[in-house]
Amino acid sequence: MQQESTLLARRPPPSPDVLSGDDDPKARKSASSSFFPAAASAAARSASGGFVVVLVLVLLVLLLLFSVVFSRPRSVVCVSPFESLPRISLSGADLDGLASDFGSLGVPSCRSKHEKTVEWTSKDLLKGLEEFVPIYETRPIKNNMYGMGFDHSFGLWFMTRWLKPNLMIESGAFKGHSTWVLRQSMPDTPIISLSPRHPEKYLKKGPAYVDGNCTYLAGKDFVDFGSVQWEQLLQKHGISDLSQVVVFFDDHQNELKRLKQALKAGFQHLIFEDNYDTGTGDHYSLRQICDQFYIRGGGHSCFKDSDEARIRMKRTKFWEKAVDIDELCGKGEAWWGVRGHMRDNFNHSNKAISYAEHFQNSRFVESVLDVYWELPPVAGPSLTHQTRYDPARAPDPIVEDGRFGLFQRLGLTRLETSVFNGYTQMVYLQVSANTA
Ligand SMILES: C[S@@+](CC[C@H](N)C(=O)[O-])C[C@H]1O[C@@H](n2cnc3c(N)ncnc32)[C@H](O)[C@@H]1O
Repeated sequence: MQQESTLLARRPPPSPDVLSGDDDPKARKSASSSFFPAAASAAARSASGGFVVVLVLVLLVLLLLFSVVFSRPRSVVCVSPFESLPRISLSGADLDGLASDFGSLGVPSCRSKHEKTVEWTSKDLLKGLEEFVPIYETRPIKNNMYGMGFDHSFGLWFMTRWLKPNLMIESGAFKGHSTWVLRQSMPDTPIISLSPRHPEKYLKKGPAYVDGNCTYLAGKDFVDFGSVQWEQLLQKHGISDLSQVVVFFDDHQNELKRLKQALKAGFQHLIFEDNYDTGTGDHYSLRQICDQFYIRGGGHSCFKDSDEARIRMKRTKFWEKAVDIDELCGKGEAWWGVRGHMRDNFNHSNKAISYAEHFQNSRFVESVLDVYWELPPVAGPSLTHQTRYDPARAPDPIVEDGRFGLFQRLGLTRLETSVFNGYTQMVYLQVSANTA
């Protein structure tokens, strides 16, 4: 109903001929005479007035038809893009972009084969937060700019602790913060870490973390995840059951490419750190791939006068990562990926893809997905004071806005605001090769 009333309100002001559809014949008469003063007075004067009156009436009907046809397209175009925005809210506060209104622009997610979901609940997440805050406070790298902040550190710690793998693999270590997080979750589990630059190199300049129970394929020993001889390496580690391995990607590579490589090797539990929203980020992400018209919150229109365009524009003033329609849409109204491009390798490579190709990519992903779960942000922005991600495209936070008491009890008030700025929809996937 709200949508409909907004759409009606946004139509151009009614023209006099629309008013002439009023039940008051006087109004109709005065409107017509003001439009055709010469014809009306001629009709009054003419001896063959009957014929002229018919002519005037025909002209009026034609004019009415003309105005109806030309005032409709706006509403017709406005409605269709919003079929995919289920929770769009158009209250005054939302339009100001002040309210956090989680998910109001839709939160696309990937469909899994059997709609299976994760075992953990929001209660488990809350319990986990309480436990993790004091651990996080002991982190060796206090300022992890360009690496993970609090939300994703918690997500990685929580999920690996829940899954209890026999081996953890990470691709993209930087100074070693994520390696440290993995170690906190599983104190005795071996890690394999792949990164072009060895974390020990950073030790010369400041804090870094190098793990004692980690095989580093880094520095001169660096091998890209897609080129590792996994069978041999896993054998060396005594791993034969790949369902006991968790792979964590924070290497800014095309996630479709990584997913295919992981499937080829037989891995089943994957965590992607940067699951960028459509129109943002430096690599093609799962979130982008699954942003399709048939998904709630998926599919976009590049129509500049749509409600989505208007809301997006307002939100860019409040949230750094919010994108407006101009940023979302590239050549030929291509909105998928980033302006119709599939980015890879920190955006050092990017390729224009057609919508058909983008659509095929989502079908492929769906065909191998058993579980897709996006980590929610830890807390609402009125508590964390984060200003980067737009809540309108994020799931409800673990600690909702307004629950300051809980936020405080969990120890989250002790953390610096900047650690809450890195949320990019970290995602956990459980996958299995498509056997159909
Ligand atoms: C965003 S940082 C990782 C941050 C780290 N996980 C953390 O939490 O602090 C990305 C890392 O990926 C590394 N990288 C670049 N290309 C890579 C590749 N092909 N495979 C693995 N890592 C790569 C970069 O050198 C960089 O250290």
